[in-house]
Amino acid sequence: MVDPFQRTVSYLRVSVTDRCDFRCSYCMSENMTFLPRQDLLTLEELERLCAAFIAKGVRKLRLTGGEPLVRKNIMSLVRALGRKIGSGLDELTMTTNGSQLAQFAEELHDCGVRRINVSLDTLSPEKFRQITRRGDFYKVMDGIDAAQRAGLLVKLNAVALKDQNSDEMPDLIRFAHGRGMDMTIIETMPMGDVEEDRTDRYLPLSQLRDELERHFTMTDTSYATGGPARYVTVQETGGRLGFITPMTHNFCESCNRVRLTCTGTLFMCLGQSDAADLRLVIRASDDDDVLFAAIDDAIARKPKGHDFLIERNNRKPSVLRHMSVTGG
Ligand code: 5AD
Ligand code: SF4
Repeated sequence: MVDPFQRTVSYLRVSVTDRCDFRCSYCMSENMTFLPRQDLLTLEELERLCAAFIAKGVRKLRLTGGEPLVRKNIMSLVRALGRKIGSGLDELTMTTNGSQLAQFAEELHDCGVRRINVSLDTLSPEKFRQITRRGDFYKVMDGIDAAQRAGLLVKLNAVALKDQNSDEMPDLIRFAHGRGMDMTIIETMPMGDVEEDRTDRYLPLSQLRDELERHFTMTDTSYATGGPARYVTVQETGGRLGFITPMTHNFCESCNRVRLTCTGTLFMCLGQSDAADLRLVIRASDDDDVLFAAIDDAIARKPKGHDFLIERNNRKPSVLRHMSVTGG
């Protein structure tokens, strides 16, 4: 699959549910209306769509949410997709908030998952509860322990939040690297209505990086995981630190991915609204050629990039859907 800007699409992110057991303040509002269950694709339908994308050239698949591990019976999909590793698919990964990892880590590894991303914005249990509105820090820690014990490579994702966790970043980095985990810091993106003014929390990573340079010696590397992060190595810890900077540095020129939601909607860009309804296509026909043609059609409309904007006194998100719909 090659888009109009000559970018090869080889990475599919699948949001298997829009639901989550947390309500992170930068991601969701306190009172979220989730999709009615009858709108969801079945796990079998999701598998059929994933298989079609693999046949079309997708080599890397990431399951996200919402929180993927709160979807009922999700491990049956993980197992089915895991069987495709080595025959078309190179890698199956997951982004999780870690709350259910203690239960699922071993099975994930058994299904062929080798790397996962765990979202963790703070090491303070109280602040964790404040940011996630309901998360239990210790459960997530147990989850991370279980994942490492099961042999999963864990990367921590932290969203940089001005006046909330930015002062903690050096400690988070030391924690991650001390435990043999890479860490990635993410800029907040204006997606979906949340209850705060995003400029209050928006911290440009260029600024954070300057602050971090006072604690650490950081060397740019060419390491890449297929995602948009740019990595440095931190001399003091020997670990790797990534920066995802959708706001301060647009990385769209090297975009290799598209995103499928749990209702079968394909978004060709995280920051744009154009989408293709693949649920309609698979429910109308069992013919894979029809589905392939619909996918080709969608890839031909992949936009050049996003137009994210965070401005003071403008609480309107750049895209109306929350991150939990497309899973970041
Ligand atoms: N901006 C940036 N990152 C976000 N995430 C959720 N919402 C946002 C947002 N508005 C992060 C989560 C998780 C990843 C999937 O996306 O913290 O790490
Ligand atoms: Fe849930 Fe992740 Fe959104 Fe937090 S950021 S509410 S853990 S989907």
